[in-house]
Amino acid sequence: MDAPALARLIRANQPCVVLTGAGVSTESGIQDFRSPTGIWAEFDPAEYASLPAFRADPIKVWRFYKPRIAMLAEAEPNAAHRALAALEEAGLVEAVVTQNIDLLHERAGSRNLVEVHGSIRTATCPACGSLYPRAAVVAKLERADAPPCDNCGAILKPDVVFFGELLPAAAIERAFELARRARLLLVVGSSLEVHPVAALPEETLSAGGRVAIVNKGRTPYDGRAELKVEGNAGEILRGVAAELGAN
Ligand code: APR
Repeated sequence: MDAPALARLIRANQPCVVLTGAGVSTESGIQDFRSPTGIWAEFDPAEYASLPAFRADPIKVWRFYKPRIAMLAEAEPNAAHRALAALEEAGLVEAVVTQNIDLLHERAGSRNLVEVHGSIRTATCPACGSLYPRAAVVAKLERADAPPCDNCGAILKPDVVFFGELLPAAAIERAFELARRARLLLVVGSSLEVHPVAALPEETLSAGGRVAIVNKGRTPYDGRAELKVEGNAGEILRGVAAELGAN
């Protein structure tokens, strides 16, 4: 277990920015996407997580999301989320850029958080722009497969980024700025397959920074990382936080 080596790397390379993916939430019981047991092994993202699919058949897409939103509401932050919040509190992590929509980093206490793929916090009416908090969406889903807008009746869209949809501009700009300034970009639980987020490690390297990776399985940046730690994010990050006296 390379927690001591990773702890030394974080302490020696500040500011350290963390980029997380679905692998940081699997220990909270949330499926990831591309590991052998991932969601995309069962469902075609083009059919259930793309903007054209949502526009063509929003009810079909909501039937896919409905159980996921309910399950995400039940999930709890795990040791990885808590360790990252503790490292931020200790001044050793400047910010967390996350691809995850599950709100678990925020619930674990991370404050400087950039959600580049949106989140389940709200849903918006694509016709009139009305905004609905998650609780209102969940209440509507108790009565219908797809939540209608109170003002115009159109079916709401979850405020998560679908394939074929632009990322929130402010969030992605901030993510690239953080990666450029980072002396260490620590990637945790991401296959680094989906752009533009998968270009963040390049941003750090091009600016003279270093990359470290904690992941189960390979990523395209393994060969250019200062350190690659294979294993469970929870156990490894808990070890790193303990090494650095942040808990
Ligand atoms: N600890 C460490 N790594 C893990 C763990 C764990 N407990 N569990 C899973 N992993 C690894 C998987 O092996 C995989 O390599 O995390 C990685 C998760 O990769 P993906 O499933 O591709 O998730 P992510 O990189 O976040 O996907 C990016 O794709 O579908 C879109 O919008 C979706 O935000 C998502 C984006």
